[in-house]
This record gives sequence, structure tokens and C-alpha cells, in this order.
Amino acid sequence: MWKKMFGGSVPQTAWVQAPLYDRIDPGRLPGHVAIIMDGNGRWAKGKGLIRTAGHTAGVNALKQVLKVAIDLRIQALTVYAFSTENWKRPHAEVDFLMKLFSEYLEREINEMDEDNVRLQFIGRIDELSTELCRQAKSAQKRTEHNTGVRFNVAMNYGGQDELIRAMHSIAAEVADGRLAADSIDETILENHLDTAGLPPVDLVIRTSGDLRLSNFLLWQTAYAEFWFTKTNWPDFTPACFVQALEDFGRRDRRFGGLKNK
Ligand code: IPE
Ligand code: IPE
Ligand code: MG
Repeated sequence: MWKKMFGGSVPQTAWVQAPLYDRIDPGRLPGHVAIIMDGNGRWAKGKGLIRTAGHTAGVNALKQVLKVAIDLRIQALTVYAFSTENWKRPHAEVDFLMKLFSEYLEREINEMDEDNVRLQFIGRIDELSTELCRQAKSAQKRTEHNTGVRFNVAMNYGGQDELIRAMHSIAAEVADGRLAADSIDETILENHLDTAGLPPVDLVIRTSGDLRLSNFLLWQTAYAEFWFTKTNWPDFTPACFVQALEDFGRRDRRFGGLKNK
């Protein structure tokens, strides 16, 4: 079925993963997948390595997961790379992560662009180092007209912080008469979030066994399905991702209504 869908221009990974992809019903794929890439530190500890080795290994898992999203033409993929709370970690780890993000961008941007990926950053990007912020904005600009997967990286992101920033900008519009207070509704709030223009999250995946949101996409996950695995992020393979998508396809989403399966 997938071979037929890809026609003559099959991405290389699609052939490799074809047996995996055959397990999925393309009509029951989520439009927007959000991933909490957790457990890098535990993965490293389990191998007797320093925590940062886990972050390096995690980048490889991310690369593979993005390829699957590209192959399956998932509309939007949002990954949690660094939270507003992660600044509490030791300086050396934070520094390492920032360097890793910068190297990742530098190394992957050409391929992402070739893959027609539209890259966007959500969170307080302006508070990152001048160089990383410049790099992120230029990658965003370079891919802004791409029409494939919308790949969003949450960096210095917190769901509560995002809602407060949205409220500030709405309040400013009300204060200077551009917006009537009683016209504020769900759509207006959504249009002021970092994720404006993206579909709501259908599926949240969290690796490494913890069962929480950790301040990720609080508004956008209102009706999301959740999928948890004990696998640590660096061990999360295309097969794990496909398993999550397959399970999602079997969920009965009622949105407050009655059974529709
Ligand atoms: C997730 O892995 C990556 C980031 C938060 C940047 P962790 O670093 O949280 O790994 P654990 O949870 O300590 O194992
Ligand atoms: C969530 O993981 C943030 C990212 C994956 C970037 P954490 O490891 O920071 O979450 P907590 O602290 O265990 O809730
Ligand atoms: Mg963690």
C-alpha cells in the first residue's frame, strides 16, 4: 500500500521501513504528534556513561523518528528538546545541550530542507545564546515555504509560560483598542500561542516510563491520546514509533460524544 502511495519518488527510508509501514492504516494516522524525548540520562547511566552521552545518542533517535514522519507524511511533529525548567540542571549539562542543538541544526538543516521539512521553534528562543537564536531563526526562515512535515522543536519552552505570553499579547491588544475583551475565545487564544496555525495535538508520546506532561503543550493536548513506553529515548526506534502510531489507530476518540468505532 505504501509503495503505491509513494509512486516513483520513494524516499530511501520508505523502502527500508516498508514492512513496518504496512502495519499502519494511513487513514488512521495522527495529524500532529508531540514527543517528550525523556530518559537520556538514565540510558547513559545504564551503560556506565556520563549523562551527556545520552543526549548525544538521543539526537540519532530523533533523526530516525523525523524520517518516519516524513515517510508517512505526518502533518506535524513537535518534540520537547529543552524546557523552561531545564535551566535548573548543572551549568555543564545545559552548556552541552545548547552546543548539541547548535551542532544538530548545522548538520541536519540541509537534509531537512531537501526533505521539504518546515522547521519551526517554539518557546523563548530569544533568551538562548545570540548565536543559537540566530541559527534557529535562519533555519526557520530557510524552510518557511516548505510544504512537507511541520517539524517543531520546543526549546526553552514551557506550556504555562506560553499561555502567559499569549495572555500578555492579548491584553496589550485589548488595552490599545485592537481587540474587544468579550471577543476573546478559543480561536483567538490559539492564534496567540507559539503553535498558531498548527493542528491540535492528536498523540503525545513520552519515553522512559514517567507518566507526566512536564509543562509540555498544556493547551494543545486538551484531547490528545497518550502513549507511554519504558524505553529510554536513545533506544526509541522507528519500530517503537510505528507501534505508537498503530496503537493510536485503534483508539476510540469520543471528544465528549459517544462511541464512534
Ligand atoms: C531528556 O532526557 C532530555 C532533556 C530533558 C534535555 P533527560 O536528561 O531528562 O534524562 P533523564 O530523565 O534524566 O533520564
Ligand atoms: C521533560 O523532561 C523535558 C524534555 C524532555 C526536554 P524532564 O526530564 O525535564 O522532565 P521531569 O523533570 O522529569 O518532569
Ligand atoms: Mg528526564
